[in-house]
Amino acid sequence: MMRDLLSLRDLSRAEILEMVDAAERMKGELASGTLRRSLTGKIVGLIFVKPSTRTRVSFEAAVYRLGGQAMFMTAQDTQISRKEPLSDMARVLERYIDAIVIRTFAQEDVEELARFASIPVVNALTDHSHPCQVLADLLTIKEKRGSLDGITVAWVGDGNNVANSWIYAAAILGFTLNLACPDGYEPEQDVVDWAKSHGGGKISLIKDAFKAVDGADVIYTDVWASMGQEDEAEKRRNAFSGYQVNSELLAGAPSRAIVLHCLPAHRGEEISEDVLEGPQSVVFDQAENRLHLQMALLDRLIGS
Ligand code: CP
Ligand code: NVA
Repeated sequence: MMRDLLSLRDLSRAEILEMVDAAERMKGELASGTLRRSLTGKIVGLIFVKPSTRTRVSFEAAVYRLGGQAMFMTAQDTQISRKEPLSDMARVLERYIDAIVIRTFAQEDVEELARFASIPVVNALTDHSHPCQVLADLLTIKEKRGSLDGITVAWVGDGNNVANSWIYAAAILGFTLNLACPDGYEPEQDVVDWAKSHGGGKISLIKDAFKAVDGADVIYTDVWASMGQEDEAEKRRNAFSGYQVNSELLAGAPSRAIVLHCLPAHRGEEISEDVLEGPQSVVFDQAENRLHLQMALLDRLIGS
C-alpha cells in the first residue's frame, strides 16, 4: 500500500495504472457532481520552497474539492528559512496536519521528511523528479490515445527532473522512451542505470531530435533552465539550440503525435509559439489533469 509519493521509482506498475484509473474516475465524478468529499476534516500542508502556479493551485483545489483544508507555506514563512532540520519539522507537523506536499530542491530533503513524519509526504517537484506531473501526463496520454499500451514517448531537451520521472515511468510500465538531449545535459546516469536494471521499458538516449520523434506518439519538452538554474540560462540557450520542438521537428513525427509540455513554457526557446498553440498541442488539458490526478492521490493517501 502506497504511503507516500516521493518518486515514481517506488511505485509498482499496478499502483501507477490504478492511480491513472482513479484520476479518470474522479474527473468524471467532478464533472457529474457526484464527487465524494473524502477529505472532510483533513488538513493538507503545502510547503513550497520554489515557485509554482499549477502544482500549488491544483493541490489546493484538489483538497478543497474533496472537502478538506489546505495550508500553504513558503520557506520564508517557516523556520526552514532559518535551517530548522526537516526531521524536527516532520515530527511537529505530523501532530497538526494529515499530509505534507512539498516542493523543494533536494530529493533527499523530501525523503528525510518522509522518513521522520508518520503522515504521508508527497513530492511536488525536486531537482531530481516530478512524479505528480508524470502521473497526470499518463492520464492525458491515455485520454488522447485511448490506452497506454505500446506508446512511444519522445523527450526533447534537458535531461531534467521531469525527464527522470519519465524514465522511471517507462521502465515500470514498459513503454518506449526516446530521449534527445544535447551533450552534457543527459539525464542522471543513476536514473538510467536503475531503469535499465529494473524495468521492461525500451529507453534510448539519442542525440538527434529528429530520430527521437520518428514514430513517436507523444513529443514532450520542458524548459532548458529549470528553477534554480537561472544563472545558466544563457549558456543553456546555446547548448540547446538544435532541440526546439517546432513545426519542422513535428513534420518528422507521425501526424498522430501529441505535444506535451509540463508548463511554464518559454515560447521561442524549447518550443515554438505555433506548436504550443497548434492542433497537436494538448498542454492545457494536460495542466487540467494535474487536478484530477492529485485528487485521486490525496484520496488514496488520506481519504476516508
Ligand atoms: N508543471 C508544473 O509543475 O507547474 P508549476 O511549476 O506552475 O507548479
Ligand atoms: N523542469 C522544470 C519543471 C517546472 C514544472 C523545473 O524544475 O523548473
